[in-house]
Parts: sequence; structure tokens; C-alpha cells
Amino acid sequence: MRWRNAILAGVGLVALAAPVSAKVTAPAGAKVFRLDGGGVTYAMGVDEKGYLQPLYWGSALAAGDPLISGDPVKTGDPIVLKAPGELSGFDPAGSVTLQEYPGQGEGLVSEPGVKALFADGNRDLVLKYRSHKVSGETLTVELADIRRPLFVTLTYTIDPATGIVARSARVRNGDARPVRVDQLAAAVLSLPVGDDYRLHYLTGRHAAEWTQKTVPIEAAATVLESRRGSTGHGNNPWFAIGREGLTSEEHGPVWYGALAWSGSFRISVGSDNLGRVRIAGGYNPYDFSWTLKPGETLDTPVFYAGYSGDGLGGASRTFHQFEVAHILPHGTKARLRPVLYNSWEATAFDVTEAGQMALAEKAAKIGVERFVVDDGWFGARNNDKAGLGDWTVNPTKFPNGLKPLIDRVKGLGMDFGLWVEPEMVNVDSDLYRAHPDWVMNFPDRPRTEGRNQLVLNLARTDVRDHLLGVLDKLVSENDIAFLKWDYNRNWTEAGWPEQPVADQQRVYVEYVRNLYYILSELRRRHPKLEIEACSGGGGRVDLGIIGLTDEVWPSDNTDPADRLTIQDGFTRAYPVAVMMAWVTDSPNWANTRVTSLDYRFLSSMQGGLGIGANLDKWADADFATARKWVAAYKTIRETVQRGSLYRLESPTGDNATSATMYVGQDKRQAVLFQMLHSSMWRDNPAAIHAQGLDPVRVYSVRNARRLGAARGRACAGRRGRTG
Ligand code: DGJ
Repeated sequence: MRWRNAILAGVGLVALAAPVSAKVTAPAGAKVFRLDGGGVTYAMGVDEKGYLQPLYWGSALAAGDPLISGDPVKTGDPIVLKAPGELSGFDPAGSVTLQEYPGQGEGLVSEPGVKALFADGNRDLVLKYRSHKVSGETLTVELADIRRPLFVTLTYTIDPATGIVARSARVRNGDARPVRVDQLAAAVLSLPVGDDYRLHYLTGRHAAEWTQKTVPIEAAATVLESRRGSTGHGNNPWFAIGREGLTSEEHGPVWYGALAWSGSFRISVGSDNLGRVRIAGGYNPYDFSWTLKPGETLDTPVFYAGYSGDGLGGASRTFHQFEVAHILPHGTKARLRPVLYNSWEATAFDVTEAGQMALAEKAAKIGVERFVVDDGWFGARNNDKAGLGDWTVNPTKFPNGLKPLIDRVKGLGMDFGLWVEPEMVNVDSDLYRAHPDWVMNFPDRPRTEGRNQLVLNLARTDVRDHLLGVLDKLVSENDIAFLKWDYNRNWTEAGWPEQPVADQQRVYVEYVRNLYYILSELRRRHPKLEIEACSGGGGRVDLGIIGLTDEVWPSDNTDPADRLTIQDGFTRAYPVAVMMAWVTDSPNWANTRVTSLDYRFLSSMQGGLGIGANLDKWADADFATARKWVAAYKTIRETVQRGSLYRLESPTGDNATSATMYVGQDKRQAVLFQMLHSSMWRDNPAAIHAQGLDPVRVYSVRNARRLGAARGRACAGRRGRTG
């Protein structure tokens, strides 16, 4: 494997940041609402019949720009929008009117925002504008059914820096009888008619996550969903839409969004009966309903929606900036990811005090900052058939508890991390023997095992409280800086028999809410604790879990060449700031590919660097190589983890090489990785052009082989494209 990399250190003027501001406009008496910020305008309006119609979502409009392409009933202030009538006997007004958030009723044939069943059997729900409120950068609009007291409150908050709009919905039953909600979207989004829209999405499976797909948006909708109870490896709750011929990596319009939810979800993208693009995302209606008691409400998760005029690369850079600032628990103050060692690929379940201490000594010599003991340290956990649920230290493997190991790790200058999988239980465990009713199940039906484990029903408050107590105790009694929180199967038989039948499907929401509760409460009690989200690799990566953890494990596939594609897909949606990447052994377990240690390091150095190799088998030369790269990584990690990512060459293209470039926030440093990922003809690496550099700076360019050199060759920033 070949690679070519460079570090660019810049000196010169620091560009002044552009001022950021946002405005929500809803003039008194007028029924047109505008959110402006970060170079984006989002607008909607109430028509003459009271429907809330989407008007615009895209690059910023000037203050007086018209929002309506056709003729309004009345212009000026207040504007009153026309309400379309019936188009034909087959297309009644209810399906012709483009609605911002429609109820399932009046002939709607596209995805509804909400679908409900009333106690008397009525399933017709027609939502019209009722009121609105502006508070700072947030707009709330209340809709109500035309006859029944069922209310939907839509919330919109625009981020001044990026123009990303956070949308959510709340449904409230104002009736004296229960109403069953069968479908509830966080947001419905619209784009004008066009046959050149292309949907980009991320799909995959275990050890093959983050595969990128692009499909035309047509009347046959594409449904991105999970029915698995968690986010899943199958489809990620993220999308981007470009236009054929206009949108590329660095140019053209891109509309994108992501749902902050770690449970079953559904995002449908397609065109409606009149060719208008509709995107609806929220709870997955599959196997789900929620009966609202009188006065009760149900809230959706947040659906974040953004627009960029700078192509797919611009969209992901803007999204990364937003995610770091607004989603990560500590925002821009979050600690940079420490260099980590994890024992899983080295020892699997065979963890012992002596073995882990020996690995820790070796890891410390390389410059590792965090030592993590993976699976196998607890209960009767000698393989994956027993022990899950029993979060007490295995006395044979650690006769003196974890303290001697933790003390040694800390003495070596590292902090200590531990693997847990709290939501699961093996049948062969003390916990299951004591509480067989705590797992999801339907009485008198089989309980399907996955990796020999069952799913604890976190929707139950007793299970929630038990897990919080166990984890709190573990972290309180041991000097643990970091938990790797794993989750290794999907749901089957998602029963919650203790609930009244009408409430059993609440499990899809209550489970995730309680998961979030445990994570946030644990963080509150242990403010210094860091957590990694893992689900057999990248099976639960979404903005919900990222908001409560510090990093994520994108895939169990640690092959460094596969990883280039995985990282390329991952960073379409999520920031490098949370993306961990380990150097493991060669040949790799996933595909038997042989790679050099240099190559493995350079692949992993494009994210949060970790090492998962069996250090007991390393030769002196390997330690020297590792020391060199870990030291180099520490000089570029802020740029890699927090800089702007430019994809110069895709690993999924025909080129033999792929290239990524990271430009620091202040543009003083940039790092470029060019990696050979496949070659049949001994191709020379393609010429690549730096992007994102500051044109007024002169950069000192050093090749990776000469990292130690005090100075590199001088190169003007303007010679690269400024991106
Ligand atoms: C799946 C994870 O993705 C691996 O990294 C490892 O932690 C195993 N589980 C342990 O069982």
C-alpha cells in the first residue's frame, strides 16, 4: 500500500469571521413566516383557506424578495396566499394544496405529518393554522383539526451561523376521549417540481456500514428506515439532495437533513401527485402507535434540515460545524479525542489483570493516552454465551478488582476506560435468572436470541433505574474516565406485556427516552466521564446518541483501505470530531488484506486515532513506527478533528487513490492525505489540488516522511483552490 501525505503549516493574516445573525419574521397580521440565517431562507405562509403552505427553502433571499411564484390573493402586508382548488375528480383540493405539515385526511395522497384514529372511528384529520409565536430565533406555529380538538405545534429554530433549521412537532389531544396516533413526523419538507433531483443516502450492514448510494427522486418514494428498535446498520437517518448536472462535491445546491433519534425511524423521499418533492421524517409507523389520553401530548425528536450552495462538500462542512457547536455534549469546548488503545482485537474475551497490564505498558510507550479494556472483564464472561447483565468484576480474571490495573494505567500516564453493554442480557446470567420478565417479550412466544443475548426492556422504569444504579456504582467505585457503550443486536418480539394493550407499542419511544435519560443522568452525576457509542460498529450512530456521547465507533471493519470508504461515508453526515479509527493487525480479520503499519496509521489518523492491535506480537520496529505516527498525529489532531474537511478524491471513484484534506479553523495548518486504495496497473497517484487554504498565507509544506523537519518548502495558499 502506498500513501502520500503532507502537512501544511501556514503563517499570515487571520481572516475575519463573517458576522452571524438570524431573523424570524412574522409581521403582525400577516400570515407569512420567514426564517433567515447563515445564508439560508426558510419560509411558509397561511393561505386563504387556512392551510399552512411551504413557500421556500434555499439560499438567502433579500428582504423584499417575493416568496410566491403565482399570484397571491392579495399582496402587500398582509399577504394572503391562494388556496388551490380541485384539479380533477381524482385530485381534490386537499391533495393539491402543498401543506407544510398535513394531517391524513381530505384525500391526501402524500406522506402525512400525522395520522390519527379518533375514538368514534373517524380517521379524517385536516390541519389548519391556528396561531403562531416568535421567540428569538424560534418560531412556533400551532395547527388544529378543522372539527376536533387535536392540535399540532410545529417548532422551528434557525441557527444564525449555518442556517440549519431544527424542526419538531408536538401533537396534543384536547378531546375528552383518547385518540390513537398511528404516524407522527418531526418534519415534512418540500422542494419544487423537478426531475433532476438526486437523493444521496447511507446504507450498509455490520462491518460494511456507510455505503453511499445515489438515486433519482421519483414518484416511487425511497424509504430510509429502521424497524429494528435502534438506528441500525441498514439506513442512517440522514439524507442529502442535489440536482443532476448542477451539484458536485464543491458546487451546486444541496438540501440535507438528519433525524436526532436512536430508535426505529422512517424518512421517505419522493415526489407527490403533482411532482413536488416531499421529505417526511419521524417515528417509524411500522408496528407503532401511541394512544393519547385526554390532554396528553406526544413530542417528536428533532429533524435538522440544512441547505448549502457549495455542493456536497460544503453541506458536510456546514453540518460538521453545526454538529460540533450544537450537538456534541460540550460543543466547541469538547475535549479533542485522546489517542486510545482498545484490547478487543488483541485479546477478545481473554482479559486478565496481568495480560492487560502488559498491554498497557506497551501502549504507554507508544504515546497512548487512554487504555480501554473491552468485553470479557465481568461476570461469567468467557465467551459471548454468558455474563451479560452481571456488571461485577470477574474475580478469576481480576482477583483484586479493577483497582490494580487502573492504578497501573494511571501510573503510566493514561486514563482508563471500560466496555459495557448495559441494554443486553444473556440467558446464562444472574440478572436473567432473577428477572426473566425484564426482557422484551410476548408471553408464551419464543424469545429470539441474537449473539446469544436478549434485549432488556428499558421502557420499564424498574429496568431503567436498575441500569442507572449499576453504571453509577461502577463509575463511582472505580476511577473510570471512559465507557465504551456497546449494543449488539436488533429487536425481535418487541412486547411489553405489563402495559395495557393500547400502550404496549409505546416501547419504541419510551425505550429510547429512557436510554437518553440514563446517558444524561450518568453524565450529570459524573461530569468528567466520556462515553463512546458503539453498536457492533456503526449500528447506532445518529444525532440523538451523538448528543449524549463523546465519540462513536463507526464500524467493526478495521481494514484500513475499507475504512477509507467507511470514513468517506460517515463524514457525509457526522463530524470527524467523533469518528474513532483504530490501527489493528494485518492481515485484517474482515477481508484478509495485508497492509503496512504506515498505511494503517495514516488511514486511522484521518479520524480519532486508536490502536487495537495485539502489541504483544509487535517487533521493535513496529513500536518505532507507531511512536513516530502517534507523535505526528498529536501535532495535527486539532486540524483533523476540528478542521474543515475537503474530499479531493473519493475512495469510491475509479481513481487508484483517494485524498482528503483538513484545514484548521484558523487556516494556519492543513493536512492532506492521499492514499492508494486499489490499484491494478501500478497507477501513479492522480494530481490533486489543495482546497480551503487561505490565499493570503504562505504555507510551509512538509511531506509525511519529513515530519521532523523544522521547515518545509514555501507554497502560497492561493496556488491551491480556496474551496
Ligand atoms: C462489538 C464491538 O463493535 C467491538 O468493538 C467489541 O467491543 C465487541 N462488540 C465486544 O463484544
